[in-house]
Amino acid sequence: MTDLTVNDRPVRFNMDPQTPLLWALRDAANLTGTKYGCGVGDCGACMVLIDGEALRSCLVTLAECEGRVVVTVEGLSRDRSHPVQQALVAEQAIQCGFCTPGIVMAASALLATNADPSEEQIKQAITNLCRCGVYPRLVRAIQRAGRVTRRAERISAAPAPGIDAQDAAAAVPAMRAD
Ligand code: FES
Ligand code: FES
Repeated sequence: MTDLTVNDRPVRFNMDPQTPLLWALRDAANLTGTKYGCGVGDCGACMVLIDGEALRSCLVTLAECEGRVVVTVEGLSRDRSHPVQQALVAEQAIQCGFCTPGIVMAASALLATNADPSEEQIKQAITNLCRCGVYPRLVRAIQRAGRVTRRAERISAAPAPGIDAQDAAAAVPAMRAD
């Protein structure tokens, strides 16, 4: 058994301690926002925060997470109000569904230590493999998220609905929100 904190909740995983954290999160905890891309540490789709550091969860075993604090994209905010989430939407800097959660986690870790990153610092921090389409906008979005973090700017537009269980239940009648 492995005890850790996931998204502010104490969780005990009754699994082989050598299980990659990625699979514990996705298969046991149903936190499917963390994506399986390559499984070998290349793509960054599986990025989560472990004690505040953005790490690839496919390379971390449950045993290595004993007693540590894990945050997944679901735990960043309840309503997509984290500055990175707001800025990505506002700047239309959304990558595909596999890439976006890992990029959001890497960007949030960067801004937690440096809320005013240069373009070069962003390039060094966001090592996620795929950048098809929106890379210049992604840099702008992360710098904008930094301004929101520093309270130099506000993004007033509410994020689009859809992630909340109630919203999902409304959109997919077969689901239950309770
Ligand atoms: S799935 Fe972990 S880095 Fe690609
Ligand atoms: S494969 Fe995800 S954005 Fe390119």
